[in-house]
Amino acid sequence: MSERKHNETIASRFAKKFSARFAAAPPHIFRAPGRVNLIGEHTDYNDGLVLPAAIALCTWTAIAPRKDHALHVFSENLNETAELDLTETHPQPRHRWSDYIHGVALMLQKLAGPLPGANIFIASDIPSGAGLSSSAALEVSVASALLSNSGRTLDLVEIAKLCQHAENKFVGARVGIMDQFASCFASADHAIMLDCRTLEFQRLPLPASLAMVVCNTMVKHGHAGGEYNKRRAQCEQGVTLLRRYFPSIKALRDVTLAQLQAHRDELPELIYRRCHHAISETERVLRCATALRAGDLATVGRCMAESHLSLKNDYQVSCRELDVMVEIAARRDGVVGSRMTGGGFGGSTINLVKTEAVKEFKHNVSREYKLATQIAPEIYVSRAGQGVTEVNVSA
Ligand code: GLA
Repeated sequence: MSERKHNETIASRFAKKFSARFAAAPPHIFRAPGRVNLIGEHTDYNDGLVLPAAIALCTWTAIAPRKDHALHVFSENLNETAELDLTETHPQPRHRWSDYIHGVALMLQKLAGPLPGANIFIASDIPSGAGLSSSAALEVSVASALLSNSGRTLDLVEIAKLCQHAENKFVGARVGIMDQFASCFASADHAIMLDCRTLEFQRLPLPASLAMVVCNTMVKHGHAGGEYNKRRAQCEQGVTLLRRYFPSIKALRDVTLAQLQAHRDELPELIYRRCHHAISETERVLRCATALRAGDLATVGRCMAESHLSLKNDYQVSCRELDVMVEIAARRDGVVGSRMTGGGFGGSTINLVKTEAVKEFKHNVSREYKLATQIAPEIYVSRAGQGVTEVNVSA
């Protein structure tokens, strides 16, 4: 079955569930994907480069208008409803899942004026806290749905930005633009190399001989929690200190490794290490992208391995389970590269594996990881998919 047909079949089942719950007009349906990042971690908020690709796992949003100014939102995964009043003058986060939706609605209203009310049904097969960007997929699918429900359109770049702002300003996680951008712009069978400063990007074809294999450690992370924001603040402190010597720099993107090294003694050791990661990681993205284009898979693998070590040792966002997963994977035949993906502190690894080795890889990595950690991992094999789309209901 073609991907389009497959999606339409899912959409028609989803539309039935929507109608059963809300007894409302047939909905419009949107799907937005989660992502993996092949390399370029914790570089987006330093104005650096990233190399994400969408995965097959998605968040689905069905929407139809209401006559009042409320959003009635049902989450199938949580079996919970949230009611949000769009006319509230001082809306406050409730510190629950509905904040992502509320935040997106508020940002849209700020940008484009009052939104009509809506019934909304949400379902996702992206595991939460797995580093696969379930939050951004939720934001992007809801933003697209709310826009369609209001009869308005917005440039995809604006959608990505407003979703990021919703998370920054309403949810309270100071995330960068990568996840929202990937969920909007991803393209089938490609990774996208995004310059997070200019938002210019290039599509890089992924070799058909390779599968993206995601290994979920099943250790959950949370971003609204302190460590992510702390890393970001440490990078900003690095910029402030380095500005004494290089007054024109705006972000770590503007600093070379040689410049950093020249002032190592003037920086606190921890700040030096954080900066070292962010600066070297953007260089690795460039090296990795060049190697991918040239079909030099050995270099791709080396870049991924170096990235993981830098995240573990200098940026300190890995954890034992992620390290174990990477060590086990890197030993298997047919593995081009393996590293943690996403924010870290748990979550998943991304593995580029030769297609003929995938079956054995899954079996053995699963067994060895369970032996080492007593945790059964989840392993997803995915092709690089497409960004957000509206999906027609099949006839
Ligand atoms: C999370 C954030 C992204 C990015 C990554 C780390 O996924 O949402 O903006 O910072 O962590 O690369």
